Amino acid sequence: MEPTRNLALELVRVTEAAALSAARYMGRGNKEAADYAAVEAMRLVLKSINMDGVIIIGEGEKDEAPMLYNGERVGNGAPPEVDIAVDPIDGTRPLAFGRSNSIATVAVAPRGAMFDPGPFVYMNKIAVGPEARGVVDIEAPVIDNLKAIARARGKSLEDLTAIVLDRPRHEQLIAEIRGAGARLRQIPDGDVAAALMTCMPDTGIDVLMGIGGTPEGVLAACALRALGGEIQGKLYARNEDELRRGQEMGYDFDRILTMDDLVRSDDVFFAATGITDGELLRGVKYYRGGARTESIVVRGMTGTVRRIVAEHRLQKLKMFSDIRY
Ligand code: FBP
Repeated sequence: MEPTRNLALELVRVTEAAALSAARYMGRGNKEAADYAAVEAMRLVLKSINMDGVIIIGEGEKDEAPMLYNGERVGNGAPPEVDIAVDPIDGTRPLAFGRSNSIATVAVAPRGAMFDPGPFVYMNKIAVGPEARGVVDIEAPVIDNLKAIARARGKSLEDLTAIVLDRPRHEQLIAEIRGAGARLRQIPDGDVAAALMTCMPDTGIDVLMGIGGTPEGVLAACALRALGGEIQGKLYARNEDELRRGQEMGYDFDRILTMDDLVRSDDVFFAATGITDGELLRGVKYYRGGARTESIVVRGMTGTVRRIVAEHRLQKLKMFSDIRY
């Protein structure tokens, strides 16, 4: 059989463009401007790709997001028919305040394969790398999951490192991780990168736990599916009203969302580019006449993982591209 197209190699241009545009705003304290720049750049490049895409995970509903809104058609309309998840900046706050670990991401899967979380923004998650796939259960006690991961990875509990978003809602979770004797990394933002880190031995991260964004959960599922890891999720309602609304819309907040529920195909593509320096990816660096980006590009069907360092000649690009580099 002849090798087939790897869409992720085209998607990386989308995340590179978003990262290059957003990186100009590092530390400038303006989240909105950074987000606008990333969204605009991402949309311009997405438009040029041979695909008939529908945004499933985007910037929100059409009335609140003028670009890359949920349901927007992207690509040039040619086959294949695909679902698209975007997060032009995961880590808008760290970017705006000059902190680490902010990335631009995009994922693509066959039409109908991605979980549509509707308006429900939070999800409880547990994510692990390939060695611990199949041993965790989001409903099990924290200690049981940590023991199972330690066993699967041939480590002691003391050697294990969990990563958790630093939020007051995680007080109990953090106490349980500490009680188990495991090590803990608390991060201010960015749980897509954190989920991917469970699949990268160099990062030393064994598990991501806790409540984060639902869109980020679907994006992470696409990446982990391709990287051989696992993520489970459960929608999380912030209050009674949200719970009731969700139930009326047919969402089940008690249901475990498995990998297959979050993205129902191995034919997934994922790309991410660093905006600010992080453990997963280096951020955008500027030098005379150009800029350098680092990206990760993953294809589910083959499991190939590429790291791409690109040198961008900004003066040349500015001559023919509408993207604001
Ligand atoms: P954005 O930069 O896209 O706003 O997301 C940052 C983030 O830290 C995500 O990685 C995470 O899933 C979510 O926010 C957590 O939400 P909250 O900050 O409301 O706890």
